[in-house]
Amino acid sequence: MVVALQKPSTPLACPRCRILWREHLGSMEIPGPNALAVRTANLCRHYQMGEVLVRAVDGISINIGAGEFVALLGPSGSGKSSLLNLVAGLDRPTSGAVIVQGNNLAALSREQLAKHRLHTVGMVFQSFNLIPSMTLLENVELPMRFAEVDRGERSARARQALERVGLSGRLAHRPTELSGGEQQRASLARALINRPKLLLADEPTGNLDSRTGTEIMDLLHSFNRSLGMTVLMVTHEQALAEKYAGRMLHLADGKLVDDVSNDHVPNISSVETPAPRGETP
Ligand SMILES: Nc1ncnc2c1ncn2[C@@H]1O[C@H](COP(=O)(O)OP(=O)(O)OP(=O)(O)O)[C@@H](O)[C@H]1O
Ligand SMILES: [Mg+2]
Repeated sequence: MVVALQKPSTPLACPRCRILWREHLGSMEIPGPNALAVRTANLCRHYQMGEVLVRAVDGISINIGAGEFVALLGPSGSGKSSLLNLVAGLDRPTSGAVIVQGNNLAALSREQLAKHRLHTVGMVFQSFNLIPSMTLLENVELPMRFAEVDRGERSARARQALERVGLSGRLAHRPTELSGGEQQRASLARALINRPKLLLADEPTGNLDSRTGTEIMDLLHSFNRSLGMTVLMVTHEQALAEKYAGRMLHLADGKLVDDVSNDHVPNISSVETPAPRGETP
């Protein structure tokens, strides 16, 4: 699809502190327009449950370009989370291929897959998945501890990430001492802390009221627009998908049944390359 060049509508600076997102997150490689972030070929994840074979993902072939914002829709049980887990490297396919940023995940060792989860993808879940016994700062630092980032840098980057999502006043709070929206903003900060190229979100607004959900979606949208970060997001909400995603994939019974471009939201990969670091967009 060819889309006329135009300025993205979302501001490229954080609305809370006016700092450019890319300054917040440090330098990221900006993808070329034709790079593929995700490719699956006849991807299957079947579960043998006694006599019954559950075809959670059943022969899905898709290409997602770097910088796209894609919504994954479909009824409950259609395989959305199963597909996302395969792309995340949390699960392995029964057959077929899943290639993320050029790596065939089926061919990776356990250690390499752990690195993929740590560096290449960031994940956000409906239920936030923050560790209850840790403060927000510790939660956000955690992926950097696994990545062996040194202590001083860890703390500085985690503080900056929490500031970016408007939580600098909550560093010492534990997750139960926060609202749902605040917990989801913290989990976004954690997902982005190792500067992943691909953000996977499984119903990120599912537990939030619509105003708070919109705040989270605006953050996701800003990361996609200003950093060229690819976003693959599961949602039940068609209206959210139509507002934010450049493309909508519909699943049913583990199969891809529709792949629709959303002309109201041109994908960044087909719009423009974000300005280089340091330049005002
Ligand atoms: N670990 C598992 N073992 C057996 N079956 C599973 C497993 N995980 C998922 N399934 C089945 O695979 C199918 C797809 O599940 P999945 O969680 O991907 O659906 P979903 O589209 O994310 O649904 P929802 O919108 O309710 O979250 C379902 O029928 C589910 O019961
Ligand atoms: Mg699900």
